[in-house]
Amino acid sequence: MNKFKIVAKTFAGLEEVLAGEIRALGAESVSVERRAVSFMGDQTLMYKANFHLRTALKILKPIAEFEVGKRDELYEQTKKIPWSKYLALGKSFAIDSTVQSEMFVNTMYASLKVKDAIVDQFREETGKRPSVNPENPDVRINVYLMGNHCILSLDSSGESLHKRGYRVGQGDAPLNEVLAAGMILLTGWHGEKDFLDPMCGSGTLLIEAALIAKGIPPGMYRKSFGFEQWPDFNETLFSEICNGDYEKETKCKISGSDISIKDIAIARANIKSASLSKVIELLVEDVIDLKPTSSSGIIITNPPYGERMKPQSIVELYASIGNTLKNRFAGFEAWIISSSLDGLKSIGLKPAKKIELYNGALACSYRCFELFRGTHKQAVIIKKAQ
Ligand SMILES: C[S@@+](CC[C@H](N)C(=O)[O-])C[C@H]1O[C@@H](n2cnc3c(N)ncnc32)[C@H](O)[C@@H]1O
Repeated sequence: MNKFKIVAKTFAGLEEVLAGEIRALGAESVSVERRAVSFMGDQTLMYKANFHLRTALKILKPIAEFEVGKRDELYEQTKKIPWSKYLALGKSFAIDSTVQSEMFVNTMYASLKVKDAIVDQFREETGKRPSVNPENPDVRINVYLMGNHCILSLDSSGESLHKRGYRVGQGDAPLNEVLAAGMILLTGWHGEKDFLDPMCGSGTLLIEAALIAKGIPPGMYRKSFGFEQWPDFNETLFSEICNGDYEKETKCKISGSDISIKDIAIARANIKSASLSKVIELLVEDVIDLKPTSSSGIIITNPPYGERMKPQSIVELYASIGNTLKNRFAGFEAWIISSSLDGLKSIGLKPAKKIELYNGALACSYRCFELFRGTHKQAVIIKKAQ
């Protein structure tokens, strides 16, 4: 099959994890970029990327790349592209733009010029034009304009891939599903040991962990992808990908708890919607009362960052998380994400790793705490002797 360039977009800090996922799918020429990974692949790989990648937000197919010397050139160059190859007359479309250019201070204006060029081309060639639907288009066209350099791509995903399709409810601050999956994959966990989220909110980390452990592709729950609206959509090929036998048995226990009865009810509904009720255990519990049910495991959690709390309460909450970990979870590894540096310091444990991530616009530190039996010094000596 014909190979072309594909670009997978992600969050800052998840590029290497995404590149690993893309290599595992068999892609060639994988190259890590800023908040993106590019690679070469065919139509099968593009479908698979949408269906399997846990840390991709969008899978783009670039169709034209050109320089824009003057403002008018964006319209002129866009009009040279044979749009009927990509967009059928009966379909609606929308333009998503990322613009950083002195020529186009207003992003909307760049989108408008691209839209005009497409509409005018259809009208001149057929006397008819495709309709524009910014909310729910059939085909999304992506404009990336940096300085003078413009890349036009087809968005093969449609709605962002973090919209897995299983979420039926959310609490006050749900994690983005792509970020949650990335946080889990950054730890190297694939279901080898027990998994705990003691402040699970709507259950995003638990569900993404269960999908990883069971090998369930994140696209399994999606109702549609952008490429299904393209003129070259290969339904047989896509249904072969969808109907693969992916699910495997797991031995690890995945459990979540939260102090809020309401959040646990939301998590329960999301877990049910993902058909994972038999895989994930839930409990209403204060993190202070958390106890291990096995001798080792991994804790990954996203506590409140304190935006809606008094500074003293956030310090107290994180200090009690630290005490719980120190006193009861020897043999575990705990990963905590937060934008509250005061909170993270109050945990009172030295992090073995720190990774910078963003939760929406909030700069966060994602920290790993290795909880040794005995003193840290003794643990290092034991590790060295092994
Ligand atoms: C940022 S939210 C977690 C959101 C979650 N990751 C999701 O995707 O929906 C933090 C959660 O911590 C819970 N929480 C706050 N204090 C707690 C405590 N002392 N013990 C257990 N859970 C607590 C809150 O109820 C809230 O659901």
